[in-house]
Amino acid sequence: MAPAEPLTNTILYLDGVSVSFDGFRAINNLSLTLDKGEMRAIIGPNGAGKTTMMDLITGKTRPDKGDIYFDGAHDLTRYDEAEIANLGIGRKFQKPTVFECHTVEDNIALSLKGPRGAFRTIFDRRSASEPSRIDEILAIIRLTDRRDELAANLSHGQKQWLEIGMLLAQEPKLLLIDEPVAGMTDAETEETARLLRDIATRHSVIVVEHDMHFVRELGVKVTCLHEGSVLAEGSIDHVSQDPRVIEVYLGR
Ligand SMILES: Nc1ncnc2c1ncn2[C@@H]1O[C@H](COP(=O)(O)OP(=O)(O)OP(=O)(O)O)[C@@H](O)[C@H]1O
Ligand SMILES: [Mg+2]
Repeated sequence: MAPAEPLTNTILYLDGVSVSFDGFRAINNLSLTLDKGEMRAIIGPNGAGKTTMMDLITGKTRPDKGDIYFDGAHDLTRYDEAEIANLGIGRKFQKPTVFECHTVEDNIALSLKGPRGAFRTIFDRRSASEPSRIDEILAIIRLTDRRDELAANLSHGQKQWLEIGMLLAQEPKLLLIDEPVAGMTDAETEETARLLRDIATRHSVIVVEHDMHFVRELGVKVTCLHEGSVLAEGSIDHVSQDPRVIEVYLGR
């Protein structure tokens, strides 16, 4: 059933969502609301259902029951993956997937939203508005001075940033980012927190991470999932002091 209120300030609404795999309930009556323009950090132990939640939002997995609404009246359970991407939900998986044999700039150009084919983007003259959009994205992802470098030559952290830039080129309303700082250096991790804070000024973001130092740096509301439901929600201090969160997650 559609939410009773129009939820004009809500970008994402999950209510009573459950999904089982071979009788195992990976998501169990999960309810979560994300405001427009909000960035939310999701934490929780391995197997808590964090990635499965993203699979449900993006249409990769269908819920057995429950409601998922996006940006007003879009019932995401009725759309397929491509349609959900077109509605404005961009997803970044854990492993970076960039075009290694293209330059940083062309990776962004190839990803730009619009009626351009890949060939046209690379070989045609770019439209007047494109260079500035590319410049803007390169600045956000801290790769302006690497723009002519082959993506293959970037560090692991820089490849993650480039892939975030490729998502931004699609102009999503909501970005889902799964464990962005795994394998990054400490300096890259801290820069990633700043980068995501910059992005969150113009987009709604859900970021899943185990790195609690990074989550603290984000400075946003935190939701801790456990056994497919919300265990605790609030500020990082509130959540990290919750005895149940300490027991199932932080005290490991
Ligand atoms: N497509 C699937 N088929 C079967 N089981 C699945 C599927 N997707 C997820 N699961 C199971 O659901 C549970 C939740 O997994 P999920 O990957 O969502 O956890 P997570 O919170 O992302 O964990 P991690 O922190 O390790 O990434 C796990 O027990 C997992 O094995
Ligand atoms: Mg996961």
